Amino acid sequence: MTAEISRKYSFAAAHRLHSTRLSDEENRAIYGKCNNPYGHGHDYEVELRVRGKVDPRTGVVAALDLLDQVAEKSFLAPFRFRDLNEIDAFRHAVPTTENLASEIFERLRAGWDSVFGVDGPRLKSVRIAETDRNICEITAKG
Ligand code: NI
Repeated sequence: MTAEISRKYSFAAAHRLHSTRLSDEENRAIYGKCNNPYGHGHDYEVELRVRGKVDPRTGVVAALDLLDQVAEKSFLAPFRFRDLNEIDAFRHAVPTTENLASEIFERLRAGWDSVFGVDGPRLKSVRIAETDRNICEITAKG
């Protein structure tokens, strides 16, 4: 039997949305309040979806404790209470929900197989909510 599970995490971080490729006017028009020069914080909610075979011995797709460890190491500890603009990945990319979801996805994938094995459960998607109204989801190809 195959199943898909979700696990939710949250972390608080600050950011400022500002692209050096745009004029100040364009930045204000596109990012609105998030372009505020002093930055601001969000309580990010992250939902990971993992798909795989239900192990008949354990009855689960993935050990949640292992998933928590991977999440903590790959993005919770590095991002928690940080200014996201100071993270290497966002020095040249604006820390929008799109770019943040993509970065979290890549970080999780980077260490995934060494924890879960190549035949183990797969990371299906990363969904991140910056606010109740601003949500982005990145889905694995294939
Ligand atoms: Ni914002």
